[in-house]
Amino acid sequence: MRLCLALLFWVGEVLADPTLVERYRQGQEHWPAATLDAGIQAEPLAALPTEPPCPASNPCTQASRVLGKQLFFERRLSGSGQLACASCHDPDLGWADGRRQAIGHNRQVGTMNSPTVVNSGYLQRLFWDGRANSLEQQAMASWLNPVEMAGDPDVAIATLQRLPGYAELFTNTYGDATISRERIVNAIASFSRSLTLTNTPFDQFMRGNTDALDEQEIRGLHLFRTKARCINCHNGPLLSDESFHHLGTSFHTVGNFKGRYSVTGDATDVGAFRTPPLRGVGKTAPYVHTGMAIDLDMLLSLYNMGWWQNAEIIGTGDETPQAQLSPLIKPLGLSTGELADLKAFLLSLTGDMPYMAPTAELP
Ligand code: HEC
Ligand code: HEC
Repeated sequence: MRLCLALLFWVGEVLADPTLVERYRQGQEHWPAATLDAGIQAEPLAALPTEPPCPASNPCTQASRVLGKQLFFERRLSGSGQLACASCHDPDLGWADGRRQAIGHNRQVGTMNSPTVVNSGYLQRLFWDGRANSLEQQAMASWLNPVEMAGDPDVAIATLQRLPGYAELFTNTYGDATISRERIVNAIASFSRSLTLTNTPFDQFMRGNTDALDEQEIRGLHLFRTKARCINCHNGPLLSDESFHHLGTSFHTVGNFKGRYSVTGDATDVGAFRTPPLRGVGKTAPYVHTGMAIDLDMLLSLYNMGWWQNAEIIGTGDETPQAQLSPLIKPLGLSTGELADLKAFLLSLTGDMPYMAPTAELP
C-alpha cells in the first residue's frame, strides 16, 4: 500500500513536467532554476577539468609521480614500519579504507573516517576541518600525526638512504640523490594529484554527451538541485562549496565534534565540517567524518529526516560552545521513488575510480 502511494506520488511528479528530462538534455541554460536559500551563491555544476592545478614550487613531473607512488606505498616511512599512506588509502577500496574510523599507529582507532585521495588535488582545503591548504601540508601532517603514521622524519630519511633504489628515484626527480622531508612530501603530493576521476557519466553529460545519464539519473540531478536542497552546499565543479557546515553529526560530542572550530575558534564553527566533494561516492562508504552512515541509503535517510532536528544537545564538558545545526538542513519529505532517483544520480558521479597495483617494495 505504502509502496503504491509512493509510486503514485512519483508518477505525479514526473507527469507534472513531462519535458523535464528533455530540458536537462538540452544543456544547462535550459535547466529549471536551482532552489537556493537566501544568501547562497552556488557555483554552477560543471565537468571537472582533467588535470588539477600544480604549484610552481612542486611541478607535477612524471618522475615525481613515480617516486611519489613508491613513497605512498612505503611502510618504512612510518614510526612502526607497518603503515603506509596506502594502508588507509587503498586502491582496492576507492583510495579510502572501508572503515568507519581509520586505524593508525599501534592499532589506535582514530576519530575520523578516511576520505578518498582521489581528486584531492582539486581541493583548496584539505581534511574534514580544512586545516591544510595544500597536499604538501596535508602529506606532512599525515606522516607525522601520532595516531596516523607517527613518522620520525630523521629515522625515515636514514632508512631510505640505506635503500639503493631510492637514490635513483630522487635523482630522476630532483637532479641529485639528497633525501629531505620536503622532497618526500612533495613527491607524495605529486602522486596524490595524479589520482583523478574526471570522466564519470555526470562529467560526460556536462561535456555535452546527453545520453550519458539515463532518465532516472536526470530526475535525481533535478532533485539534487531543487527539492532535496543538496545544491545549497554541494555545488560547483567539485560538488562542494569547500565551506563548513554542521549537519548534526556532532551533537553527541563523540569523537571529533569540534570540527572547523579547532581551526578558527569561532563559535558558529563548532561541529562544522567541510562539504566533501562527491565524485567516487559509490566506492567510499562509510560516510561523513565519523563514518556513521554505513551506506548511501542510510545517508539519504538521514538527510531526508533533516538529521537531528530536535536533538537533545549534550554539554561538551569543556569550554567549547554548543553546536548549532546549519539552517540549511531541513527535513525533505522525499518519497521512496525520489530517494532512489537521488541515489542513482550519486552513483552516476562514481564511474571508474582510478586503480593501480602497488609498486613492489624496494629491497
Ligand atoms: C592511519 C590511517 C591513515 C594514514 C596512514 C594516512 N591517512 Fe590520509 N587520512 C586519514 C584520515 C582519517 C583522514 C581525515 C583526517 C582529518 O580530516 O582530520 C585523512 C585525510 C587525508 C587527505 C585529505 C582528503 C580530503 O578530502 O581532505 C589526503 C589527501 C590524505 N589523507 C592522503 C594521505 C597521504 C598522502 C598519506 C601518507 C603520507 C596518508 N594520507 C596517510 C587516514 C590516514
Ligand atoms: C548544509 C550543507 C549541506 C547540504 C544541504 C547537503 N550536504 Fe551533504 N555534506 C555536507 C557536509 C558538511 C558533509 C560532511 C559532514 C560531516 O562529516 O560531519 C556532507 C556529507 C555528505 C556526503 C558524504 C560524503 C563522504 O565522502 O563521506 C554525501 C554523499 C552527501 N553529503 C550528499 C548530500 C546530498 C545527496 C544532499 C542532498 C540531499 C546533501 N549532501 C546536502 C554539507 C551539505
